Amino acid sequence: MTSSAVIRRLPHWRLLVAVGAVAFTLAGCAGSTEGLFGAELYARSCAGCHGGEGGGGSGPALGAGSGAVELSDDQIIGVIEVGPGTMPAFDRLTDDQIASLVAFLRTLQQ
Ligand code: HEC
Repeated sequence: MTSSAVIRRLPHWRLLVAVGAVAFTLAGCAGSTEGLFGAELYARSCAGCHGGEGGGGSGPALGAGSGAVELSDDQIIGVIEVGPGTMPAFDRLTDDQIASLVAFLRTLQQ
């Protein structure tokens, strides 16, 4: 192989490395909440803004006596999927994971 052929090949390698790095990062993100449900998922994804017991923080309170008590299950699911305002959208969660979050929120609201 001549040296010019090696140089022509370089960009391909770089591209492969870049694509690999992106795929690895995406897989890492998707895996961070994989297999988590209910309380564990809430602690990982929601408690930082809404408080461990749903008492609120940078996000509004979600527990007993909060406005979230008035929201229907479908409305809460919509909030989680869309992410209103400064709340991020949790569009990588499965339907079962989202349902488990709604169920967990209802326990906080009793
Ligand atoms: C980065 C901070 C942040 C994270 C993380 C976050 N939220 Fe939020 N959440 C907010 C903010 C801010 C609002 C208010 C949004 C608005 O209406 O402008 C909100 C609103 C809500 C509401 C509607 C409350 C109401 O009274 O209308 C629900 C329900 C909710 N979040 C649930 C969740 C759940 C469940 C999770 C985890 C999957 C989560 N949030 C993660 C910041 C966050």
